[in-house]
Amino acid sequence: MSRAAVLAGLGTYVPPRVVTNEELSRTLDTSDEWIRTRTGITRRHWAGPGTATGDLAVEAGTRALKSAGSGDVDLVVLATTTPDHPCPATAPEVASRLGLQTVAAYDLAAVCSGFVYALASATGAIAAGIAERALVIGAETYSTILNPEDRTTSVIFGDGAGAVVLRAGDPDEPGALLGHDLGSDGSLKDLIIVPSGGSRQPVAAAGTSGARPADSYFSMQGKPVFRHAVTRMAASSQAMLDRAGWAAETVDWFVGHQANVRILHAVADQLGMARERTAVNLDRVGNTSAASIPLALADAVTGGLITPGDRVLMSAFGGGVTWGSTALVWPEVAPG
Ligand code: ACO
Repeated sequence: MSRAAVLAGLGTYVPPRVVTNEELSRTLDTSDEWIRTRTGITRRHWAGPGTATGDLAVEAGTRALKSAGSGDVDLVVLATTTPDHPCPATAPEVASRLGLQTVAAYDLAAVCSGFVYALASATGAIAAGIAERALVIGAETYSTILNPEDRTTSVIFGDGAGAVVLRAGDPDEPGALLGHDLGSDGSLKDLIIVPSGGSRQPVAAAGTSGARPADSYFSMQGKPVFRHAVTRMAASSQAMLDRAGWAAETVDWFVGHQANVRILHAVADQLGMARERTAVNLDRVGNTSAASIPLALADAVTGGLITPGDRVLMSAFGGGVTWGSTALVWPEVAPG
């Protein structure tokens, strides 16, 4: 029997500072009503100065290892769009701070699809015998790349981290990931982009005012992203359902990337799933990119929605553009 990756632990962390729609409405031309009705978001958490993505990742990682009942892992994969530094990767320092010493550790960049990509990457390592137990983390501090003057992005994103432990196991035991559907379309890269700060366009010097250049911030073309997100998440979810041999109506919980409640409902409609089967926590945390799916999973488990034995389908869409889906039967795992 081939080796499967089995979910054995789950942990999350959000920074303490809560930013409400009302607070954003004081400095931006927006309103609680617009944000709530167009996205479903009512508040989000933002890390303050001095807190980096790695700090959130360490907190979530600590909780996931506790949930798994063991700090014994030999691989760390950290999905993030907002690493602590352009170089080196954030994962090795996170691993070191978690006391994991010299384990293999790397970052993975697939924007909002990062966590699903990271699950697939760690699953591959486990299947190949490269790793026995992997810590997979999605962590972000989007507050550091949001343009405070851009109402189209500032109201949407939040900071946070979520992590799972995967261990080698059997494909037919609860918690085994039942396959992965991944894809990308780089012809659409400009839809979600931080234009400068990479090799294509190194960061420009701050102007004489000392202000941060506008192109060093995150930008998103919301409308086409919305359209592609629905189409791709629905198609990828269906491909994953086919792989798992599940009919859509037998799925207990759809845990989709928490970008917009209207997107989640549209995907559920296209799949023929009841909207009530959609896990939603974006109202309280916003879009946390690579952290979004583990945060939504933990919220649904803690809230008593997802219980052991439930069929759980996960799907994400993000910058690149990228998308991906996976599925599992929920095991006896509670967030640490
Ligand atoms: N407050 C008030 N008005 C606003 C705001 C705001 N915060 N933001 C935009 N508007 C205005 C626009 O300027 C526009 O005004 P106009 O009609 O006068 O031009 C109007 O509201 C409608 O704007 P749209 O962008 O068409 O609004 P839409 O209904 O599409 O909602 C949103 C925007 C929420 C961004 C939506 O398009 C969306 O959710 N897109 C998908 C995001 C997503 O899925 N991201 C996932 C990947 S992200 C990643 O990978 C990092």
